[in-house]
Amino acid sequence: MHRSVRYFIAVALIATAGCNSASTNPETELLLGHYASLTGSEATFGQSTENGIQLAVEEINAAGGVDGKQVKVITYDDKGESREAGAAVTRLVSRDGVKAVIGEVASSLSLAAAPICQEAGVPMVSPSSTNPKVTKIGDKIFRVCWTDLFQGVVCAKFARESEKIKADTAAIFYDQSSAYAVGLQEEFEKAFVTLGGKVITKQTYQAGDQDFSAQLTAIRAANPQVVFVPGYYTDVGAIAIQARKLGLSVPLLGGDGWDSSKLGEIGGEAIDGCFYSNHYSHEDPNPKVQDFLKKYQAKFGEIPDGLAALGYDAAIILCQAIDRAESTDGAKIATELAATKGYDGVTGNISIDADRNAVKPAVILEMKAGTPHYVTTIQPEEN
Ligand code: PHE
Repeated sequence: MHRSVRYFIAVALIATAGCNSASTNPETELLLGHYASLTGSEATFGQSTENGIQLAVEEINAAGGVDGKQVKVITYDDKGESREAGAAVTRLVSRDGVKAVIGEVASSLSLAAAPICQEAGVPMVSPSSTNPKVTKIGDKIFRVCWTDLFQGVVCAKFARESEKIKADTAAIFYDQSSAYAVGLQEEFEKAFVTLGGKVITKQTYQAGDQDFSAQLTAIRAANPQVVFVPGYYTDVGAIAIQARKLGLSVPLLGGDGWDSSKLGEIGGEAIDGCFYSNHYSHEDPNPKVQDFLKKYQAKFGEIPDGLAALGYDAAIILCQAIDRAESTDGAKIATELAATKGYDGVTGNISIDADRNAVKPAVILEMKAGTPHYVTTIQPEEN
């Protein structure tokens, strides 16, 4: 019974997708792909990004589309798994014939699928993968967010210098199966030490672990002033609860991977008074942000997280590049993506640098009564 239901869903999805591509008229429609974790333990990452993309595409189409064509997005659920991400992107570029791909959120998944886009000459824009290695895969791979070289510094500066923490000592507790967490904790450690702080213990876990008590007990014994936990929200919520139960009461500090409306639901009171760095705050009075917030809330009935904002910016930047290219040739689209300068996005002013990354500020948010609130903005270093 279970099996046949699943089979039916799989067939139905393929049929819809097949129908999409077969019914696409390249003269009047521009086909784009999106691969995302619509289900699985990071499901809000994919869902929010998809919502942001849909909102952007709706606006672009209402304003006449791209180069006179209506934009159509085929989205596949990769369930937050590398193998599924690879299969989804293979399907998008070789069967559906999309002209560009948006995705993924999680760096491990972008790293798994980007080589397929690069090989096929189809540009890929990650809205939110921050691991430095992602865009190094090749000249067709872009992102509209900053990298963890910056995010590590942001978190270290906040931990060392903010009145709210002012830590001399830190513990690090990270997911060793995530490219994102492994990279970010390294950058945090380097920056924290450069700023005169000391990392007194490092502990690891694996995404999906349920019991963190051994590592948290070791951290409590080391008695740090802050614990850096650069993981994804589902694990972080559980870690916060167990840390508080064990009497570890210092603030937890994380990166953008915490960003989900589920963080407060899972972590409850345990996550209050904890901080994370992010790409935007919905409390930013900037009219661009407030306008997006209003439109998003009207359409989806919820406050957009950073992923929704990044999905929105990524879709617009990609569509504008294709419009300027006046072509769906992958090399020409890539040239125009690389030429993106000073785009005034919801997540800040976006210029793509020579390494195909965006340079822009980060914000620090504090969890209060289960929701994130703006604390401060940290600017990229001038160079
Ligand atoms: N930066 C994370 C990664 O690279 C993904 C992420 C971005 C998660 C923004 C939440 C918000 O894996």
